[in-house]
Amino acid sequence: MTHRAYSALLLATALLASNAIAQMPAGYNADESAIQPYTLLDPLTFSNGRPVRTPADWPRRRAELLHLFEQNVYGHTPAAANHIPLRVHIDETDTQALNGKAIRKQITIYFSSRLEAGPKEHLLLYLPTHHHGPTPVILGLNFFGNQTVLADPGIRLNPTWTRPPKSTEPAHLVTPDEKSRGLQTQQWQVEKVLASGYGFATIYCGDIDPDFTNSIQLGVRPLFYPAGQTAPAPDDWGALGTWAWGLSRALDYLQTDKQVDAKRVAITGHSRLGKAANWAAAQDPRFAIVLSTESGKAGQSIYRRRYGEDIAHLQHSFPHWFCENYAKWVGHETEIPVDGNLLLALIAPRPLYVASAQDDLWSDPHAEFLSAVDVSRVYTFLGHQGLTTTTLPQPDQAVDSPIQHDVAYHIRTGKHDVTAYDWGQYLHFLDQRWGRQ
Ligand code: GCU
Repeated sequence: MTHRAYSALLLATALLASNAIAQMPAGYNADESAIQPYTLLDPLTFSNGRPVRTPADWPRRRAELLHLFEQNVYGHTPAAANHIPLRVHIDETDTQALNGKAIRKQITIYFSSRLEAGPKEHLLLYLPTHHHGPTPVILGLNFFGNQTVLADPGIRLNPTWTRPPKSTEPAHLVTPDEKSRGLQTQQWQVEKVLASGYGFATIYCGDIDPDFTNSIQLGVRPLFYPAGQTAPAPDDWGALGTWAWGLSRALDYLQTDKQVDAKRVAITGHSRLGKAANWAAAQDPRFAIVLSTESGKAGQSIYRRRYGEDIAHLQHSFPHWFCENYAKWVGHETEIPVDGNLLLALIAPRPLYVASAQDDLWSDPHAEFLSAVDVSRVYTFLGHQGLTTTTLPQPDQAVDSPIQHDVAYHIRTGKHDVTAYDWGQYLHFLDQRWGRQ
């Protein structure tokens, strides 16, 4: 990695972890009292106005919701992409990693029959050596490369995308600097996860699709164009869809690893990668638990409150995340036929932890709570227990961790980030559902 690229990585890391994103840019509503009356979309009413009467009706409503998200937000995952054979290479297994505390495996998952030459993702997997038997695993995408999640010299430095300061210059792949190891240690808390008896797995999102506009040719999307197609159709998947798909391909591998309990894979993600985690769990029922951190608008938050980020901002700054149809909803927050509460409904009745941060006004933490409240009706409807409060809890006081509750929530003090506090709550939530490891 060049010095300039490394500085760009440091800057990007600092930005993600700083208040720069948490603070509200001028011109966006940050005033609770200015919110206009709105009606939430009802997960338990079909689009034609008929009620979802019994749990037996739910699969039909669920299919309808999935279709609405595909059509209007994330785009369709091409059928061909969902049926690729699993092609992996175990690049490394170290049974004495982290001073003997973990088994570390690094696995390349190939997406095309061209193997090395085609797109692929690199899965980093740690399993705690003190755990006996197949191990439950927490899986999530990372922003800057696997080596950033922990300062472990054994993690391979796979190429990551770098963006030159001038946006006119093309982005390119570089091998990261040794100095980037462990830059996101606080955000991932890998050693704490392992000490709690869980495995930890991660992939760099840019392996699947680079996170910048006009990058389609550099990611997986062209691989699945039918013959003759050269550009995306209006409802073809965007980067969020590809990232979600990449998570499912990692799960395909985990299902073949006898040291992993693939029926107990929790999925997590922060911010844009939280949106991707939500969408992955919505589409793929094999993900057993969702730990969703500040996924904001186009994630667990609610457009209809018109507070914080809006569709215009998402569409103008990150058009590559979405299908082209999403542009139709710019300025139409109260008309878009989906919202955060419906996205969470696609996760029901699997255990779901929704986390917010008090200063993350851009994501609208209050709306994230209201989504968790509203989706709780779906859990109850399906015979499970959701949140039992409708009042935003005090910061740093998690609600509804008791074992019988399948929806939990906290709002933490501080900015847009993932902290040891968040992880502490998540691990407690997993312990209660899966038993202490
Ligand atoms: C931007 C974007 C958010 C997103 C966030 C992130 O702030 O507007 O929607 O969640 O980036 O991914 O960090």
